[in-house]
Amino acid sequence: MKTARGTAASYSVKALDPGDLDRAIEIWSLSFGFLDRDRWAMFYDSFLDSAIGAYLGDYLVAIVGIINFQMWFGDQLLPCAGVSAVAADPAHRRRGLIRQCIKEALQEPHRKRVPLTALWPFSYPFYKRMGYEVCDLRYLVECNAAALPDPGDARRYRRIDIDQYEPLKPLHDQWIKQSNLSLKRGDLQWRRVLSHPERQIVCFAHDDGYMLWNTKDKQSRTVEIFEWAYLSRDAFLDGISLLKRMSDLNWDKVRWQTSDLTSLLEFGIVEPQPTITVKPGIMARVLHLKAFMEATGIAAPPFSIDDPLGFSDQYRGGGEIKIGPGELIQSTTGFLRVKPDVIPLSMFAQTGEKTNFCVEFF
Ligand SMILES: CC(C)(COP(=O)(O)OP(=O)(O)OC[C@H]1O[C@@H](n2cnc3c(N)ncnc32)[C@H](O)[C@@H]1OP(=O)(O)O)[C@@H](O)C(=O)NCCC(=O)NCCS
Repeated sequence: MKTARGTAASYSVKALDPGDLDRAIEIWSLSFGFLDRDRWAMFYDSFLDSAIGAYLGDYLVAIVGIINFQMWFGDQLLPCAGVSAVAADPAHRRRGLIRQCIKEALQEPHRKRVPLTALWPFSYPFYKRMGYEVCDLRYLVECNAAALPDPGDARRYRRIDIDQYEPLKPLHDQWIKQSNLSLKRGDLQWRRVLSHPERQIVCFAHDDGYMLWNTKDKQSRTVEIFEWAYLSRDAFLDGISLLKRMSDLNWDKVRWQTSDLTSLLEFGIVEPQPTITVKPGIMARVLHLKAFMEATGIAAPPFSIDDPLGFSDQYRGGGEIKIGPGELIQSTTGFLRVKPDVIPLSMFAQTGEKTNFCVEFF
C-alpha cells in the first residue's frame, strides 16, 4: 500500500511569525506534554534567539528554535548554535519538515560564521543523518545511600534557599570550564533551571562546589542529584558523606550523573552494588568549517567534509581525507579513545585532558 505523503512543495519554511506564538505553544504543549502557557511564552521571548516554522498556507505546523550559546572547546569559548524547541503537529509529521526547518534555522548562524552547533536529541539516528554525532558519554550512578562510605565532612555542605543562588554562579563557571562542549549559563538560564516545574529543588552549597537535588520522586525513594559540581576532592568526599546521610525514613537511594567515575570506583562499593549506566549526552557538529579551523588553530592537512546539510565542504581545497561534521568534533576533542586511521595525528585529541560533558539542558 502506498502511503500518501504531502509534497514538500505544499509547505513553506520561513521565520516564525511572532503572531503565531499561540499556535507554536499549542504544538510545543502537545509535543512535550508540558502545558504552562506562560512558561512557553517566556521561553519564546527570552530564550529563543530565532525560530523557524513550517507552514501549510499560513497555518503553522512545525517549529525549530535556535539559542546562541558559548561553548567551551579546549581553552576557549566558541559560539554554538543550540537547536531547541523542535516539534511538529502530529498531523504533519514524517514529511521531512523538521529536517528542512533545521537546515533553514542554521542558515543565519552559518552566515554569522558560528563554528559549532549542538542539541539534545530525542533520537540519535535522526540527527546523525544531519551530520550530528554524539560527543558526550556520561555515567548515571545509582547507589544505595547506606552503602556509601563516610569519607568527608557532610557539614561543609550548607543548605541554601534557591533564591540565594548567586554564590553558585562562579562555582558553576569554574566547574564547566573543566569540560569540553559545556555551555555558559546566563542568569535567565539559572532561573529556568531553578524553577523547573517538574522538580522540587533542594540546594546545598560548599566552598568548592554545590549540589542541586530533586526530591519530587518520593515513590522510588531516590534522591536525584541533577547537578553536582565539585571543584576539589574534598567537595566530592564531603558530598558523599552528605548523601550517605540520606538513608532515612523517606529515602534509600541517591542518583547522579558524572563524567568521572574514578573517584567513586576507588571506594570499591560492592554491597549492594551501585548501578552504573552509560548514557549518551549532547550531539554536536561543525557548522562553519573555516571559522572552526581558524578559531581552534588546529593544524590540519587539506580535508573534505561530508555534510548532509551542505554547510561545510572543504578545508584548504579538500584532499584525500573525508570526515563528517560531527566526527570532526569527536576526533578533535578526543571523544574517540582510539585514533581512527583516517584521522591525522594533528586532528586528533587537540583539547588536552578535558572530557566532553555538557550539563546545560536546552
Ligand atoms: C520529533 C519530531 C519533531 C519529528 O517530526 P517530523 O515532522 O516527523 O520530522 P521529519 O518528518 O523531518 O523527520 C521524520 C524522521 O524522523 C524520524 N522520527 C520521527 N519520529 C521518530 C521517533 N518517534 N523515533 C525515532 N525516529 C523518529 C524518522 O526517521 C523519520 O523519518 P521517516 O519518516 O523517513 O521514517 C516530532 O515527532 C515531535 O514533535 N515529537 C515530539 C517532540 C520531540 O520529541 N521533539 C524533539 C526534541 S529533540
